[in-house]
Amino acid sequence: MTAGLFWLALAYVAGSFPSGLVIGKSLYHKDIRQYGSHNTGATNAYRVLGKTGGLCVLALDACKGALGVYLGELAGLSWLPQQLELCMIAGGLLAILGHSCSVFMKFKGGKGVATGLGVLLYLAPRETLIVFVVWCIVVGLTRYVSLGSIIAAALVPFVMYAFHEPFEIVAFGALAALFVIVRHRTNIIRLVHGNELKVERIKKK
Ligand code: G3P
Repeated sequence: MTAGLFWLALAYVAGSFPSGLVIGKSLYHKDIRQYGSHNTGATNAYRVLGKTGGLCVLALDACKGALGVYLGELAGLSWLPQQLELCMIAGGLLAILGHSCSVFMKFKGGKGVATGLGVLLYLAPRETLIVFVVWCIVVGLTRYVSLGSIIAAALVPFVMYAFHEPFEIVAFGALAALFVIVRHRTNIIRLVHGNELKVERIKKK
């Protein structure tokens, strides 16, 4: 049991790694929290650091999610093999939680989209592809990443259900979607008031 809990705790710590902050400060000498939406996620990293910086943050954040599921798998194998899928889901959720309430950032953090993408890719790759296409269409048409993320997140449990995924996976999809949407509450207010930031780069020193 101790080993299982250790792997799950590690999933949370791995999710807590502040990729946007570390890449911004170490490679670009910028704290991305001081610009744009002040978020530490890949979207704001793109706005502030550019394409390479944004893609690096996206990749690292997605890896944290996949790593969380893998650590959950290790927890299940060493502790509850009969509940392996539940342990993997728990590992993924803990990674998303770590990303958004990071132990390294006074329990602040991102909105869980890129880390959730990594979790989803591991647990349900077909569904990931579908919601990713929807995300691309919404962002391509509107230039609002937040809107694409909210719509894609909301679709996740429905697409999972349509693919006859087990109840635990659909429940995970619903919980993760709810979490991501709640984390976007300030974006929703800005979208309603017409002052949401688009995905354009910020021109400044
Ligand atoms: O992944 C976060 C994205 O959906 C919104 O980011 O920086 O526009 O708040 P941002």
